[in-house]
Amino acid sequence: MKTAIIYFSKTGAAAECARELYRLIPEATLVNLAIDTCDIAKFDNIILGGGIRAGMIPSKLKKYVSANELEIQKKNIGIFVCCSDYPHSVDYIEKNFPPVIVKKAVCCAGFGAKMNADEMKGIDRFVAKVAAKKIKKAGGEMPSINYAKIAEFAAKFK
Ligand SMILES: Cc1cc2nc3c(=O)[nH]c(=O)nc-3n(C[C@H](O)[C@H](O)[C@H](O)COP(=O)(O)O)c2cc1C
Repeated sequence: MKTAIIYFSKTGAAAECARELYRLIPEATLVNLAIDTCDIAKFDNIILGGGIRAGMIPSKLKKYVSANELEIQKKNIGIFVCCSDYPHSVDYIEKNFPPVIVKKAVCCAGFGAKMNADEMKGIDRFVAKVAAKKIKKAGGEMPSINYAKIAEFAAKFK
């Protein structure tokens, strides 16, 4: 089974998750929508992923999915998001991906998030700093990538 892991990552979290899936899934190909294109016809499994900003998946990923919706529907589908509001991961997926694709998906999951302000610029850095302050004040933990969840997800595409 051939798997395409198609992702867009603004600050690196979804890219890190995509690389981990690539490491765990045999015959996988990484497709970074910032630089690559992908001929879906060559693949049996299609994994789609990206980071959430203001409740939305990256526009490049959204456009890619709507342009290829019919072809994607014919495959085994997996969808992941990276977001700091971990309990709402599946809600974000349901709001951002076409219902028919979500319904057909073998697996939909949140893989957690990374919010390291020092690695960010501009508005992202500002939002990450504000979020970090709030979390610290509330005595919570900074979001992190959930590698166990990635392994569980990857097992469905082996
Ligand atoms: C400007 C900005 C807006 C964000 N908006 C949300 C949001 O609406 N919901 C959420 O759960 N996480 C939000 N996050 C957290 C990101 O989803 C998280 O940092 C994620 O790891 C980003 O993935 P990426 O690095 O692949 O872009 C936001 C982060 C930034 C910097």
